[in-house]
Amino acid sequence: MGAELSRLKVVLTGATGGVGRAVAERLAQAGAEMLVIGRRSEPLKELASRLGARTLVGDLGDRQFIDLFPERLSESWDAGPDILVNNAGLFELAPFGDTGSETFERLLAVNLRAPFELIRACLPGMLARGSGHIVNVGSVAGRKAFPGNAAYSASKFGLRGLHEVLVEELRGTGLRTTWIEPSAVDTPMWDRFDPDGRADLPSRAEMLEPGAVAEAVFFALAQPEDVAVEEIVIRANPAGRRI
Ligand SMILES: NC(=O)c1ccc[n+]([C@@H]2O[C@H](COP(=O)([O-])OP(=O)(O)OC[C@H]3O[C@@H](n4cnc5c(N)ncnc54)[C@H](OP(=O)(O)O)[C@@H]3O)[C@@H](O)[C@H]2O)c1
Repeated sequence: MGAELSRLKVVLTGATGGVGRAVAERLAQAGAEMLVIGRRSEPLKELASRLGARTLVGDLGDRQFIDLFPERLSESWDAGPDILVNNAGLFELAPFGDTGSETFERLLAVNLRAPFELIRACLPGMLARGSGHIVNVGSVAGRKAFPGNAAYSASKFGLRGLHEVLVEELRGTGLRTTWIEPSAVDTPMWDRFDPDGRADLPSRAEMLEPGAVAEAVFFALAQPEDVAVEEIVIRANPAGRRI
């Protein structure tokens, strides 16, 4: 087992998903102590028992769960975490005219408000200790417009804005924050949309593997304390794949 993140306490959201699972495995391999969060209890517990992690089951779109998060956190650890990885995300693909306000609010709640609230819960402890690392998993759709992405893009552009303000505010505090920006990743997020059957979407073979995102997260976290990796932009390189 690696020791790069040994004894560091990590909160990771979306650990039951494609990217989150890969991140959890990579950080566990590096020796991190993890609290993994997801909605689905069974896969979350299976992952946690395999990796020796703690679990927190809940809906990040639910205000009550968010309000109770600081209390749940203090039940898990006396102090910490050292690292927060905001990875959970909801995706929707629909033309603007078919995007209802409920969908819009739900995506903003999970993809933008929840990271904001989790950062708010973790930041005071990190500032008091003069160290800590916040990782936000964004998307190419947080930088570039794609048809059908109104709600998703709004949430990810918003998250990038939040991240960029944090970069400025945290400079000189000893804390670091990293924006991870992948293009399409081959995960269950695409299961509802049949990417292999649609000309307007990348095929699964053209997507990144979740492991590529996990490596980027690990890279940012494993840097010496005097190095801040503020953003990592990852794009698929289809011609170079699986040869
Ligand atoms: N896949 C892509 O093409 C792609 C590209 C760029 C960026 N990203 C970003 O990468 C991150 C991970 O996505 P993924 O591809 O791994 O998606 P995924 O396989 O669908 O996993 C999504 C994860 O988010 C969790 N989640 C969703 N809604 C939640 C809620 N209301 N409360 C708590 N947890 C919730 C899910 O938990 P449960 O399963 O337990 O419900 C799951 O663990 C997201 O932020 C996504 O926007 C993905």
